[in-house]
Amino acid sequence: MITIKALLVLACIISFAQASSPAFPSCVGHRGLPKQNPENTIRSLQHAILVGADGLESDVRITHDGEVIMMHDTTLDRTTNGTGLVTERNWSGYVEYLKTGGESVPKLTEVLELLMREENRDIWIILDVKDDNPIEILDALASVFNLYPNYDFTAQFHIGIWNEEFFMRTRKVLPGFPTSFIGSDISLARVLFDKVESFNMEFIFVFSDQTGFFDEVKSHGRSVFVWTVNKEKDMHEAIKFGVDAILSDYVDRCLRVRRRKGGKGLALEEWDENNVGVEWD
Ligand SMILES: *[C@@H]1O[C@H](CO)[C@@H](O)[C@H](O)[C@H]1NC(C)=O
Ligand SMILES: *[C@@H]1O[C@H](CO)[C@@H](O)[C@H](O)[C@H]1NC(C)=O
Repeated sequence: MITIKALLVLACIISFAQASSPAFPSCVGHRGLPKQNPENTIRSLQHAILVGADGLESDVRITHDGEVIMMHDTTLDRTTNGTGLVTERNWSGYVEYLKTGGESVPKLTEVLELLMREENRDIWIILDVKDDNPIEILDALASVFNLYPNYDFTAQFHIGIWNEEFFMRTRKVLPGFPTSFIGSDISLARVLFDKVESFNMEFIFVFSDQTGFFDEVKSHGRSVFVWTVNKEKDMHEAIKFGVDAILSDYVDRCLRVRRRKGGKGLALEEWDENNVGVEWD
């Protein structure tokens, strides 16, 4: 009798432990795997997927002739052999021939095609639409998605916006897509409190928030993503805080930390230093 009772108690404890085991965050490759590849290139995004990223983050800009490309800065100078503002350069005849660390500058269509592949259907991506873009870039994004009318991108693509104006335009021209508020300022985030599906914020502001904003966000079923978390101790902190996604330049590090905490990830022994390419800068 005692044995059966003890077993029942044990079973309860086990099922309770399982039910209350923490949900682990997604590990997201910020601009792909940018320390080993030129940032925001297809190679960089693919490399992040190869090491086990759950998601990706990349930035969009629009050229003078209306092509949406993957580029962080307003100008071409830092990452390519070109010069000048992206908005003042044509894709056709100029940007199409530029090199970024030996790679070409990807068009958004290439990223769509990467994520449409059968083996990448469970990978999601945040497109960072910086607010120093012309707002019409959102209409251009919609046109690019419309090139593939038979594919539903809304399960994989999150539209990242920095202000309310961009949010409203996104809802109008990209209905059905989840939106993510990007920023550092909690008071700006509050404006979109009940509107966006997720908040993608600089991690120090999340961890140091005293206003209870993130408890409110979570209790309303919205997600919290943090960037750019590169140190292991901050990754531990993010897991403890209960964020939904960690954006990192070292997505492999995120996967290892998560694995060590008991989540799905990358064990040290699975890591092949020879297979990760060279440092790129
Ligand atoms: C950048 O490099 C590529 C490859 O060498 C070359 O074809 C292209 O003309 C260069 N562009 C500029 C603006 O220097
Ligand atoms: C860009 O292309 C347009 C045509 O779409 C052309 O009129 C313009 O001169 C080009 N600008 C540059 C800087 O090459």
